[in-house]
Amino acid sequence: MSEFEGKVAVVTGGANGMGERVAHTLAERGAVVVIADRDGERTPLVEREIRAAGGDAHGFVVDVSVEDQVRDLMTEVVRRFGRIDVLDNNAAALELTAEDPDIAALETSVLMGTLTGNLVGPFLCTKYALPAMLTQGGGSIVNMASVSGMLGETSLSAYGMSKAAVIQLTRAVATQYGKQGVRCNAVAPALVMTRNTTEWMPPEFKDVYLRNSLTPYIGAPQDIAEVVAFLASDRSRYMTGHVVPVDGGIAAASPIVADRRALG
Ligand SMILES: NC(=O)c1ccc[n+]([C@@H]2O[C@H](COP(=O)([O-])OP(=O)(O)OC[C@H]3O[C@@H](n4cnc5c(N)ncnc54)[C@H](O)[C@@H]3O)[C@@H](O)[C@H]2O)c1
Repeated sequence: MSEFEGKVAVVTGGANGMGERVAHTLAERGAVVVIADRDGERTPLVEREIRAAGGDAHGFVVDVSVEDQVRDLMTEVVRRFGRIDVLDNNAAALELTAEDPDIAALETSVLMGTLTGNLVGPFLCTKYALPAMLTQGGGSIVNMASVSGMLGETSLSAYGMSKAAVIQLTRAVATQYGKQGVRCNAVAPALVMTRNTTEWMPPEFKDVYLRNSLTPYIGAPQDIAEVVAFLASDRSRYMTGHVVPVDGGIAAASPIVADRRALG
């Protein structure tokens, strides 16, 4: 399949987890893929893996929450490849989730760091990718939200607030640039088994998600990559401004479902 032939896709956080799968998937389907990630070890590695599989990938080691770096990145992408068709705003400051409890215990510094990593990054990438999209007459932006930005949680307060803000960024961009051909949607996963989640998460957590999912399994990175690829492609041309939960049905079910099921 080569539905992204001739298209240029920027994937932030493309060196690990879901972003890595998105980068592989878009490259397999014909895109020139720019991996924009602050991970200096894995960025060139993923670039090489994609190239070895026959794809066209270019790694840029950048911090997408730093304005100068994002401006230079997008300028360089347009200079080298001529356009930006897809922006997958996937990167987030997940290391801060370890210090992200309930609101009363949340440090302001953790909130500010989370907003910088999770909201300012997508904002800056959007801001500096938009001129190319508007000049060429369109593009598709896919933001990585989370069910944590749609539902109350016992912890992850800063994370949830930042993802709710990403959802509003999605609606604003869709509303402001839709008539000029730029679409913007968000994907909201529940738990997805990436290296990141398997490293910090106690095994019991996986069971909690499994019990509350409507599917008999927890999501894998490719489950998210498939939906991102769809939203990035022209196949979703009539969708914009929306949040698509990819969550095993967690956000669709009554909150008492797991307890009811346990009653038999
Ligand atoms: N894994 C889950 O269960 C889950 C659930 C819902 C939403 N999400 C969201 O999905 C996205 C990806 O999550 P993941 O689990 O694949 O993460 P991951 O930790 O496996 O990968 C994240 C990547 O982003 C990069 N990154 C982080 N901040 C960056 C920055 N400022 N500049 C450049 N690169 C940066 C990291 O280096 C890393 O390569 C995140 O937005 C996360 O909030 C994850």
